[in-house]
Amino acid sequence: MKIDIISVVPDLLQGPFAHSILKRAKDKGLLEVNVINLRDYTTYARAQVDDYAFGGGAGMVMMIEPLVNAIESLQKETSYDEVIFLTPDGKTLNQKMANSLSLKNNLLMICGHYKGIDQRFRDHFITSEISIGDYVLSGGELAAAVLTDAIGRLIPGVLNDETSALTDSFQDNLLAPPVYTRPEEFRGWKVPDVLMSGNHKLIDEWRHEQSVQRTKEKRPDLLEE
Ligand code: 6GU
Repeated sequence: MKIDIISVVPDLLQGPFAHSILKRAKDKGLLEVNVINLRDYTTYARAQVDDYAFGGGAGMVMMIEPLVNAIESLQKETSYDEVIFLTPDGKTLNQKMANSLSLKNNLLMICGHYKGIDQRFRDHFITSEISIGDYVLSGGELAAAVLTDAIGRLIPGVLNDETSALTDSFQDNLLAPPVYTRPEEFRGWKVPDVLMSGNHKLIDEWRHEQSVQRTKEKRPDLLEE
Protein backbone atom coordinates (compact mmCIF):
# COMPACT_ATOMS: atom_id res chain seq x y z
CA MET A 1 0.00 0.00 0.00
CA LYS A 2 1.10 3.54 -0.68
CA ILE A 3 -0.07 6.50 1.41
CA ASP A 4 0.78 10.01 0.16
CA ILE A 5 0.17 12.86 2.59
CA ILE A 6 0.00 16.52 1.55
CA SER A 7 0.93 18.92 4.37
CA VAL A 8 2.13 22.45 5.04
CA VAL A 9 4.10 21.17 8.06
CA PRO A 10 5.77 18.02 6.66
CA ASP A 11 8.26 17.95 9.55
CA LEU A 12 5.41 17.03 11.90
CA LEU A 13 5.08 13.72 10.03
CA GLN A 14 8.73 12.62 10.13
CA GLY A 15 8.63 10.89 13.52
CA PRO A 16 5.47 8.79 13.64
CA PHE A 17 6.33 6.28 10.91
CA ALA A 18 9.99 5.78 11.82
CA HIS A 19 9.39 3.35 14.69
CA SER A 20 7.91 0.05 15.73
CA ILE A 21 5.17 -1.55 13.67
CA LEU A 22 4.92 1.06 10.93
CA LYS A 23 8.68 1.07 10.47
CA ARG A 24 8.58 -2.71 10.11
CA ALA A 25 5.77 -2.38 7.56
CA LYS A 26 7.94 0.00 5.55
CA ASP A 27 11.06 -2.17 5.92
CA LYS A 28 9.10 -5.20 4.70
CA GLY A 29 7.92 -3.22 1.65
CA LEU A 30 4.28 -3.53 2.70
CA LEU A 31 3.71 0.18 3.27
CA GLU A 32 5.16 3.27 1.63
CA VAL A 33 4.44 6.67 3.19
CA ASN A 34 5.40 9.86 1.35
CA VAL A 35 4.94 13.30 2.83
CA ILE A 36 4.51 16.05 0.24
CA ASN A 37 5.14 19.69 1.10
CA LEU A 38 2.24 21.76 -0.26
CA ARG A 39 4.52 24.80 -0.49
CA ASP A 40 6.41 23.06 -3.31
CA TYR A 41 3.29 23.49 -5.45
CA THR A 42 2.36 27.12 -4.91
CA THR A 43 2.85 29.70 -7.66
CA TYR A 44 2.40 32.57 -5.20
CA ALA A 45 5.22 34.68 -3.79
CA ARG A 46 6.94 33.55 -0.57
CA ALA A 47 5.42 30.06 -0.92
CA GLN A 48 2.03 31.37 0.18
CA VAL A 49 -0.66 28.68 0.47
CA ASP A 50 -3.41 30.50 2.40
CA ASP A 51 -5.35 33.75 2.21
CA TYR A 52 -8.11 35.73 3.92
CA ALA A 53 -11.65 34.31 3.76
CA PHE A 54 -14.05 35.95 1.30
CA GLY A 55 -16.84 37.52 3.28
CA GLY A 56 -14.51 38.35 6.13
CA GLY A 57 -14.07 36.79 9.53
CA ALA A 58 -11.09 35.55 11.50
CA GLY A 59 -8.76 32.90 10.17
CA MET A 60 -7.03 32.06 6.93
CA VAL A 61 -8.23 29.61 4.28
CA MET A 62 -6.04 27.26 2.27
CA MET A 63 -6.16 28.30 -1.39
CA ILE A 64 -7.38 25.90 -4.07
CA GLU A 65 -4.58 26.43 -6.60
CA PRO A 66 -1.61 24.94 -4.71
CA LEU A 67 -3.81 21.99 -3.68
CA VAL A 68 -4.90 21.34 -7.27
CA ASN A 69 -1.33 21.70 -8.55
CA ALA A 70 -0.18 19.17 -5.97
CA ILE A 71 -2.94 16.61 -6.48
CA GLU A 72 -2.83 16.76 -10.29
CA SER A 73 0.91 16.32 -10.25
CA LEU A 74 0.61 13.31 -7.93
CA GLN A 75 -2.25 11.82 -9.96
CA LYS A 76 0.04 11.63 -13.00
CA GLU A 77 1.99 8.96 -11.09
CA THR A 78 -0.70 7.33 -9.01
CA SER A 79 -4.36 6.44 -9.28
CA TYR A 80 -5.79 6.98 -5.78
CA ASP A 81 -8.55 4.77 -4.37
CA GLU A 82 -9.52 7.54 -1.95
CA VAL A 83 -8.60 11.20 -1.54
CA ILE A 84 -9.12 11.79 2.19
CA PHE A 85 -9.44 15.20 3.81
CA LEU A 86 -8.64 15.17 7.54
CA THR A 87 -11.08 17.59 9.14
CA PRO A 88 -12.94 17.89 12.45
CA ASP A 89 -16.25 18.04 10.52
CA GLY A 90 -15.57 14.70 8.80
CA LYS A 91 -16.97 11.27 9.69
CA THR A 92 -15.53 10.07 13.00
CA LEU A 93 -12.89 7.36 12.47
CA ASN A 94 -13.69 3.91 13.78
CA GLN A 95 -12.23 0.43 13.40
CA LYS A 96 -14.61 -0.49 10.60
CA MET A 97 -13.37 2.44 8.50
CA ALA A 98 -9.74 1.51 9.25
CA ASN A 99 -10.44 -2.10 8.23
CA SER A 100 -11.93 -1.11 4.90
CA LEU A 101 -9.20 1.45 4.11
CA SER A 102 -6.51 -1.18 4.87
CA LEU A 103 -7.72 -3.10 1.79
CA LYS A 104 -6.94 -0.22 -0.62
CA ASN A 105 -3.78 0.17 -2.69
CA ASN A 106 -3.21 3.91 -2.88
CA LEU A 107 -4.47 6.60 -0.54
CA LEU A 108 -3.96 10.35 -0.63
CA MET A 109 -4.46 12.29 2.60
CA ILE A 110 -4.79 16.07 2.72
CA CYS A 111 -4.04 17.81 6.02
CA GLY A 112 -6.09 20.93 6.64
CA HIS A 113 -4.80 23.99 8.45
CA TYR A 114 -6.01 27.42 9.46
CA LYS A 115 -9.79 27.78 9.10
CA GLY A 116 -9.95 25.03 6.51
CA ILE A 117 -9.55 24.61 2.77
CA ASP A 118 -11.45 26.31 -0.04
CA GLN A 119 -14.78 24.47 -0.31
CA ARG A 120 -14.36 24.06 -4.09
CA PHE A 121 -11.41 21.74 -3.49
CA ARG A 122 -13.54 19.63 -1.17
CA ASP A 123 -16.38 19.55 -3.70
CA HIS A 124 -14.29 18.49 -6.68
CA PHE A 125 -11.35 16.42 -5.39
CA ILE A 126 -12.10 14.91 -1.99
CA THR A 127 -13.76 11.47 -1.88
CA SER A 128 -13.83 11.00 1.90
CA GLU A 129 -13.71 13.33 4.94
CA ILE A 130 -12.46 11.90 8.23
CA SER A 131 -12.17 13.26 11.78
CA ILE A 132 -10.43 11.45 14.64
CA GLY A 133 -12.78 12.72 17.35
CA ASP A 134 -14.85 15.58 18.66
CA TYR A 135 -12.11 18.04 19.57
CA VAL A 136 -10.05 20.44 17.49
CA LEU A 137 -6.38 19.92 16.60
CA SER A 138 -4.27 22.72 15.17
CA GLY A 139 -3.88 20.82 11.90
CA GLY A 140 -4.68 17.55 10.17
CA GLU A 141 -1.14 16.10 10.49
CA LEU A 142 -1.57 14.32 13.81
CA ALA A 143 -4.92 12.99 12.56
CA ALA A 144 -3.22 11.72 9.36
CA ALA A 145 -0.60 10.01 11.53
CA VAL A 146 -3.33 8.36 13.63
CA LEU A 147 -5.22 7.23 10.53
CA THR A 148 -2.04 5.90 8.86
CA ASP A 149 -1.16 3.94 12.01
CA ALA A 150 -4.67 2.49 12.34
CA ILE A 151 -4.63 1.42 8.68
CA GLY A 152 -0.97 0.38 8.41
CA ARG A 153 -1.05 -2.19 11.21
CA LEU A 154 -3.97 -3.95 9.48
CA ILE A 155 -2.17 -4.54 6.17
CA PRO A 156 -1.73 -8.32 5.84
CA GLY A 157 1.77 -9.34 6.88
CA VAL A 158 2.47 -6.26 8.99
CA LEU A 159 1.65 -7.81 12.36
CA ASN A 160 3.79 -10.82 13.24
CA ASP A 161 0.89 -12.88 14.53
CA GLU A 162 -1.76 -12.60 11.86
CA THR A 163 -4.56 -13.25 14.31
CA SER A 164 -3.62 -10.50 16.70
CA ALA A 165 -5.51 -7.73 14.86
CA LEU A 166 -8.60 -9.92 14.99
CA THR A 167 -8.51 -9.94 18.79
CA ASP A 168 -8.10 -6.15 19.09
CA SER A 169 -10.69 -4.07 20.85
CA PHE A 170 -13.53 -3.01 18.52
CA GLN A 171 -13.04 -5.78 15.95
CA ASP A 172 -16.36 -7.35 16.94
CA ASN A 173 -17.79 -4.28 18.71
CA LEU A 174 -16.30 -5.59 21.96
CA LEU A 175 -13.38 -4.29 24.01
CA ALA A 176 -10.43 -6.67 24.38
CA PRO A 177 -10.24 -8.81 27.56
CA PRO A 178 -7.63 -8.26 30.32
CA VAL A 179 -4.18 -9.75 29.71
CA TYR A 180 -1.50 -10.98 32.12
CA THR A 181 2.14 -12.09 31.92
CA ARG A 182 4.92 -13.21 34.31
CA PRO A 183 5.11 -13.38 37.25
CA GLU A 184 2.17 -15.55 38.13
CA GLU A 185 1.96 -13.84 41.52
CA PHE A 186 3.16 -10.32 42.42
CA ARG A 187 2.70 -8.85 45.93
CA GLY A 188 0.03 -11.46 46.47
CA TRP A 189 -1.87 -10.39 43.33
CA LYS A 190 -2.59 -13.54 41.34
CA VAL A 191 -3.30 -14.19 37.69
CA PRO A 192 -6.83 -15.67 37.25
CA ASP A 193 -6.65 -19.46 37.66
CA VAL A 194 -8.38 -20.17 34.35
CA LEU A 195 -5.45 -18.65 32.40
CA MET A 196 -3.07 -21.12 34.05
CA SER A 197 -5.37 -24.10 33.44
CA GLY A 198 -4.14 -24.99 29.96
CA ASN A 199 -7.76 -25.53 28.93
CA HIS A 200 -8.08 -23.41 25.79
CA LYS A 201 -11.81 -23.82 25.43
CA LEU A 202 -12.34 -22.54 28.96
CA ILE A 203 -9.84 -19.74 28.39
CA ASP A 204 -11.63 -18.61 25.20
CA GLU A 205 -14.97 -18.62 27.04
CA TRP A 206 -13.52 -16.65 29.96
CA ARG A 207 -11.99 -14.07 27.59
CA HIS A 208 -15.25 -13.63 25.75
CA GLU A 209 -17.17 -13.15 29.01
CA GLN A 210 -14.59 -10.61 30.19
CA SER A 211 -14.88 -8.74 26.89
CA VAL A 212 -18.64 -8.54 27.17
CA GLN A 213 -18.46 -7.45 30.82
CA ARG A 214 -15.83 -4.78 30.10
CA THR A 215 -17.82 -3.46 27.20
CA LYS A 216 -20.99 -3.28 29.30
CA GLU A 217 -19.10 -1.33 31.97
CA LYS A 218 -16.95 0.99 29.88
CA ARG A 219 -18.62 1.32 26.49
CA PRO A 220 -22.27 0.21 26.62
CA ASP A 221 -22.84 2.25 23.44
CA LEU A 222 -20.87 -0.37 21.46
CA LEU A 223 -23.40 -3.05 22.35
CA GLU A 224 -26.26 -1.03 20.89
CA GLU A 225 -24.70 -0.70 17.41
CL1 6GU B 1 -8.90 15.34 11.15
N1 6GU B 1 -8.28 17.74 12.02
C1 6GU B 1 -8.25 18.71 12.94
N2 6GU B 1 -7.69 19.87 12.66
N3 6GU B 1 -8.78 18.56 14.16
C2 6GU B 1 -9.34 17.38 14.41
C3 6GU B 1 -9.40 16.34 13.49
C4 6GU B 1 -8.85 16.56 12.28
N4 6GU B 1 -10.05 15.28 14.05
C5 6GU B 1 -10.36 15.69 15.27
N5 6GU B 1 -9.96 16.94 15.49
